[in-house]
Amino acid sequence: MSLPKISIIGTGALGSTLARALVSQDVILKSLFNRTESKVQDLANELAISTHGIFPKSISELGSLTFLTVPDRAINEVAQKLSKLKGDLENFTFVHCSGNESAELLQPLKLQGATIASFHPLQTFTHYSGINDFKGIYFSLQGDGEVFPQLRLVAEKFGARTLEVTKEQKSHLHTAAVFTSNYLTTLLDTSVKVGTGSGLSEEKVKNALLPLVETTLKNTSEQSFADALSGPIKRGDIRTVEKHLELLDETPELKEVYCVLGLRTVELATSSGSLDGTTAEKLRKMLQKWV
Ligand SMILES: NC(=O)c1ccc[n+]([C@@H]2O[C@H](COP(=O)([O-])OP(=O)(O)OC[C@H]3O[C@@H](n4cnc5c(N)ncnc54)[C@H](OP(=O)(O)O)[C@@H]3O)[C@@H](O)[C@H]2O)c1
Repeated sequence: MSLPKISIIGTGALGSTLARALVSQDVILKSLFNRTESKVQDLANELAISTHGIFPKSISELGSLTFLTVPDRAINEVAQKLSKLKGDLENFTFVHCSGNESAELLQPLKLQGATIASFHPLQTFTHYSGINDFKGIYFSLQGDGEVFPQLRLVAEKFGARTLEVTKEQKSHLHTAAVFTSNYLTTLLDTSVKVGTGSGLSEEKVKNALLPLVETTLKNTSEQSFADALSGPIKRGDIRTVEKHLELLDETPELKEVYCVLGLRTVELATSSGSLDGTTAEKLRKMLQKWV
């Protein structure tokens, strides 16, 4: 099986990375479209794609597989506009890459005979991303099953894997991904700010914390979460936790975050048997006060 000609609508962070990755794997990109023309023009020049513009004028400008990599809020609007193009969409497939939305957002195209799916990369993309950012990741697949073999082939070409999900599983997975990626970034930014509380520079604190992040990620990938856990709660060092709570007095919202996560940490430490029942109860009482 080989891949059909492909089109991409929306050449932002993901769309442009996808376009470069497909071309690097010798897949034929038939056309590229983007709301702001200058952006698509630059990418089309770089990849030598002759058909490009703001929006396809007819379905003849589309490959038989089209990725809609526009923001989630624009997917349905773009699908509706595409469904109004003249011609039968029976041999066309449309795929969006949203983590939160199901393939049903493309229903206007299905009503015109197209097959539809969602293909969500569990990865973070910016304008600096490259094909290697697809390597080893998972794409969730949802929608019309007949599209899946083509999408699996795209994933395979990138050295990625696929995971079939229902639309409910997809939403849960996406919420988890936001915690894992976006909130981890926010948590690190917040951690650095906490660390600068007595005058150390942000740069020094960030540099000091990053090796800790790396080893934590390594440990969580090699061991269970309970085994990978360390720190004052796991050791039952109540005085240390008290001191942290005092330090956070001036930032009540951070104190609450510390306590919410602390309570979950008590449960994780208890599940591994490293925290005795009496100490766990004392910690719960201390932390619950601020939640
Ligand atoms: N970035 C990620 O980490 C990531 C990861 C997984 C999945 N995704 C999914 O990928 C999709 C695209 O996300 P992104 O982060 O690549 O977004 P992005 O960087 O903001 O790019 C979106 C692109 O769509 C174009 N666009 C915006 N509104 C449009 C409209 N109404 N009609 C046509 N084109 C429009 C934008 O054009 P302009 O140039 O005019 O702004 C922009 O180039 C989303 O569904 C998102 O959930 C993203």
